[in-house]
Amino acid sequence: MALLPILTLPDPRLRIVSKPVESIDAEIQRLLDDMLETMYEAPGVGLAAIQVGAPKRIVVIDTAKQEEDRSPLFLINPEIIWASEELSTYNEGCLSVPEYYEDVQRPARVRLRHRDRKGELQEIDAEGLLATVIQHELDHLEGGLFIDHLSRLKRERVVKKFTKAARLEAAHRIAEQVTEDVDA
Ligand code: NI
Repeated sequence: MALLPILTLPDPRLRIVSKPVESIDAEIQRLLDDMLETMYEAPGVGLAAIQVGAPKRIVVIDTAKQEEDRSPLFLINPEIIWASEELSTYNEGCLSVPEYYEDVQRPARVRLRHRDRKGELQEIDAEGLLATVIQHELDHLEGGLFIDHLSRLKRERVVKKFTKAARLEAAHRIAEQVTEDVDA
């Protein structure tokens, strides 16, 4: 297993619409394992393949609170087939928008259809945190981010903040490179 780098805002790849998985082979299973390890290490409760640069309809989730209770969910080609009218609000965050949290309102309960790690078709009913995480991760498959649910003002503010940080980091990298060149 390997840790994969996680893309962060404003990386344009986060806006790609992911493609369905045609066959669940060894390569896909390795991606699932690497994604799971990356998510636990981060740590996070959910990760979509596009967040590690793979535009495939794949998600890993584990909302267990304790390490000993680990119960990973592998979702391949997941689809929400029902959502409750009742809504609930969670203070959401995202590994691709580090250290930024905002309340998001979503359906409180959903029914999900997906293929598991072995390719078997599964249906699960989810509520609470799991329902929220499922919806958050499925947004990623459409090129969405949880900040899309916020007001335009809030969204623009966070995008600007991350864009500025990325620019500073790039400038810093160039400066280091120049210093190395001078040293050499
Ligand atoms: Ni996310």
